[in-house]
Amino acid sequence: MTLTNRFVRSATWEGMCETDGRPTLKLASCYRDLAAGDVGLIITGYAFVRPDGKQIPGKMGIYTDDFAAEMRSLTQAVHNESGKICMQLVHSGGQTTAKAAGRRPLAPSAVKVEQFPEEPEAMSKEDIDEIVAAFGDGARRAKKYGFDAVQIHAAHGYLINQFLSPLTNRRTDGYGGSVENRCRFLLEVYRRVRSEVGPDFPVFVKLNGSDNLQGGLDISDAIHAARLLDIEKIDAIEVSGGTSASGERGPVRTRIDKPVSEAYNLALALEIKQAVRCPIMAVGGFRSLEVINKAVIENGTDYISLSRPFIREPRLIKRWKEGDLSPARCISCNGCFKPGLKEGGIYCVVEKKEAEKRTSGPL
Ligand SMILES: Cc1cc2nc3c(=O)[nH]c(=O)nc-3n(C[C@H](O)[C@H](O)[C@H](O)COP(=O)(O)O)c2cc1C
Ligand code: SF4
Repeated sequence: MTLTNRFVRSATWEGMCETDGRPTLKLASCYRDLAAGDVGLIITGYAFVRPDGKQIPGKMGIYTDDFAAEMRSLTQAVHNESGKICMQLVHSGGQTTAKAAGRRPLAPSAVKVEQFPEEPEAMSKEDIDEIVAAFGDGARRAKKYGFDAVQIHAAHGYLINQFLSPLTNRRTDGYGGSVENRCRFLLEVYRRVRSEVGPDFPVFVKLNGSDNLQGGLDISDAIHAARLLDIEKIDAIEVSGGTSASGERGPVRTRIDKPVSEAYNLALALEIKQAVRCPIMAVGGFRSLEVINKAVIENGTDYISLSRPFIREPRLIKRWKEGDLSPARCISCNGCFKPGLKEGGIYCVVEKKEAEKRTSGPL
């Protein structure tokens, strides 16, 4: 797959799907705007591979063929603008509620995540095999509907990350204990996905370089997982960090107001880069071309992923190409989550307020 530039729209839950996960016209138009704004690769918001892997409202589902027509409209909208689109596949594991999952949440072990209300149920071998198969089915559907790639979400504390982390994986069978065993579920998911889409279809993974939690997945675990995937010909690894339990060191940090607070996972990404041959995408807090150019030209990062800057400015890359090189206008306040939960889709609340200010008052 050839991209027109090194910019990736990192997976961003848009909150624009129906309750069952069916995509809407609003989502297609969001992707069309991103493609028209010259983002090299768009990664969708996380799509649940089984209904019990669902988390927050408006999330996309890839567990059924019933949404084929809508899925094809998404890919068509991007391809009409000469863009590329990758579907992110997820199972939320213990980072959900029984209400959203429609059952007691499943996880590697019955370890409660503080931020979620229920203690999950430890998965049986049968559950493991079924969820591995569900990831494969999701990938096969994505390819059939015209997606250009798939990304396995193994970061941010969701199910695969829970298997990788010693904090949430207390299993005593072949899926727990040593780092080899904790990586087994991820490897099985990757192999199933690969066998469904074939050797030439791009398959990526989003991996935490660290959970930023005492006793959680650390950089040596991440390097181990990355090497295993690299040997098995993963096409790229996107390096993130943190889970919903990591507080200020979570995946979506606030207060990125100067170049030194930008690129907060870059050091982890570079450590992984040194250990593998596949391309690396770095994500987390990239805002200025000064920091981005340094990460690419001096440090050799292959791709730069951004999420919030594209919520505020879907045309950001086009703006930079046209010569306005000022940093992304996103102030990293995380105000965009709320309308996703309450108003049928995310948008930049700061941009909306400023637009209202510009158009109100006397002529
Ligand atoms: C509204 C919102 C939704 C997100 N949804 C996802 C998601 O579905 N999957 C994922 O891997 N990361 C998700 N993220 C995290 C981003 O992909 C990214 O890793 C993080 O925001 C840091 O990048 P940024 O500083 O450029 O925003 C989301 C972030 C935001 C703000
Ligand atoms: S609300 Fe706007 S400024 Fe705040 S984080 Fe979201 S996109 Fe950025």
